[in-house]
Amino acid sequence: MPRIAVYPGSFDPVTNGHIDIAERGLKLFDKIIIAILHNPGKQSLFTVEERLEMLAESMSDIENIEFDTFDGLLVDYAHKRQASAVLRGMRAVSDFEYEFQLALMNRKLNREVETVFLMTGLRWIFTSSSIIKEAARFGGDISDMVPPSVNLRLKAKFGH
Ligand code: PNS
Repeated sequence: MPRIAVYPGSFDPVTNGHIDIAERGLKLFDKIIIAILHNPGKQSLFTVEERLEMLAESMSDIENIEFDTFDGLLVDYAHKRQASAVLRGMRAVSDFEYEFQLALMNRKLNREVETVFLMTGLRWIFTSSSIIKEAARFGGDISDMVPPSVNLRLKAKFGH
């Protein structure tokens, strides 16, 4: 059986930190499914379709990665996709409490699905999609934190 992990998130937009986690995750898993939560209740900058396009544009050269969307419970999606693990990146201590809650709730909901955390690369420790969007909104240079296609789309979105 291939070892499959779901790497879930909003990816609004994908950052170099996310790509680093996915690439390193592939050392542990045969296949990684990057899955965007389809959440109409949460305001996002990019549509789900745009976010899928950016994932594909920035990781087209990486093998054994698939891009998808999901709604409902993450563990149900993982089960449906025959994934034995959820992959998440962990940055500074501030991520810990939320990630801990998420992992424990997922474990309670389905004990067959394990959560695997990878520490983010030191370079990306203080980057997040939110802070990148904030900087880009006001014309800040975030070109070394996101893939080139995301940089272009952010510029277009904010009219820079
Ligand atoms: O990038 P994010 O916003 O931190 O990702 C959060 C995500 C998508 C991993 C989380 O919100 C999620 O899995 N939502 C789906 C619903 C669910 O299963 N929640 C956890 C148990 S209640």
